[in-house]
Amino acid sequence: MLPRVKPHVAAMATRRPAQWMPAAALATAANHNVKQISVIGAGLMGAGIAQVAAHQAAVRVQLVDTSQAHLQKGESIILASLKRIFKKKSADAADAARQTDEVMARITLSTSTEQSAASSDVLVEAIVENLEAKRRLFRQLDAAAPAHAIFASNTSSLPIADIAAAVSATRRAQFAGLHFFNPVPQMKLVEVIRIGETQPQVFETLLALTKAMGKVPVSCKDTPGFIVNRLLVPYMFEALRLVERGDATKEDVDTAMKLGAGYPMGPFELMDYVGLDTTKFINDGWYQSGKGLQGSKLTEPSPLLDQLVADGKFGRKSGEGFYAYGGVGASTKK
Ligand SMILES: NC(=O)c1ccc[n+]([C@@H]2O[C@H](COP(=O)([O-])OP(=O)(O)OC[C@H]3O[C@@H](n4cnc5c(N)ncnc54)[C@H](O)[C@@H]3O)[C@@H](O)[C@H]2O)c1
Repeated sequence: MLPRVKPHVAAMATRRPAQWMPAAALATAANHNVKQISVIGAGLMGAGIAQVAAHQAAVRVQLVDTSQAHLQKGESIILASLKRIFKKKSADAADAARQTDEVMARITLSTSTEQSAASSDVLVEAIVENLEAKRRLFRQLDAAAPAHAIFASNTSSLPIADIAAAVSATRRAQFAGLHFFNPVPQMKLVEVIRIGETQPQVFETLLALTKAMGKVPVSCKDTPGFIVNRLLVPYMFEALRLVERGDATKEDVDTAMKLGAGYPMGPFELMDYVGLDTTKFINDGWYQSGKGLQGSKLTEPSPLLDQLVADGKFGRKSGEGFYAYGGVGASTKK
């Protein structure tokens, strides 16, 4: 159950009073010279990124989306997560509520991309996985953001250089990928992706910022899937092929990888968690045009996966994928 959303979402940026910002927060922010970030896209990932930035790194955050409804959804995700965190940390309910309020006070909700960009040092994009939509957004941001602002995309599968092509050459020197993992508050890893133009000091700032967010950054060049997905997606497709050939059942493959390789989930459970549509989208994109992966045996589409997606079975989020779940988004298998 999501908590009730506070009715303070205004049409434009609604900055909370300056006294909400504790001095300690500014001191932490100064370590990486970032005082305010904009997170564009208040969905699953954007909400998580905004949360760890405001909570762990203690910077001011402008969370931007296209509508109040999306912003409220993002805010409710953050609120529920912070409440869980502070409830565990503090036995005193009033103290937990005060800490939650303190973090929430650093987050401003906005439907104005330009307005929030104008006052931010780092802009992290977490909107839909669509190259044209991302390019359109970054063009807007380039015109509105201050010259020193660093741009980052949280894309899972699109080449960072293709997205960065939308901005000026000067800005491309301040452009990188920041690939967070779902769920952001729990997952420790961030892949920091450099393109050819990314300046060393920009990269260093992003390393420092992600560390301040409580994450462990790793560095990777702008190659399809970066590190984690490049290994994970072909692994999941190899599991699909194993089942398609009739060599083993999905249940036995999942059990085998959990007990034999020590993985927390088997590949079919993992695909249900990630989303079958998302898994298919990433792989098919690489098969069609991924650098070094185009037309490759490694990325050949899977008829089994295609059929499930065509049937609207997307995994946990739709209530059924390889397995059936107790209800849409339920966390336990039937
Ligand atoms: N979900 C994951 O597991 C995961 C993991 C790592 C990276 N990613 C990447 O993160 C990005 C976001 O994924 P998500 O799962 O949070 O998606 P999501 O659908 O939950 O959220 C996307 C949000 O962006 C908003 N949006 C769309 N266009 C916008 C615009 N022009 N301006 C402002 N807001 C806009 C939408 O309204 C929505 O609220 C994608 O690029 C995805 O590939 C996702």
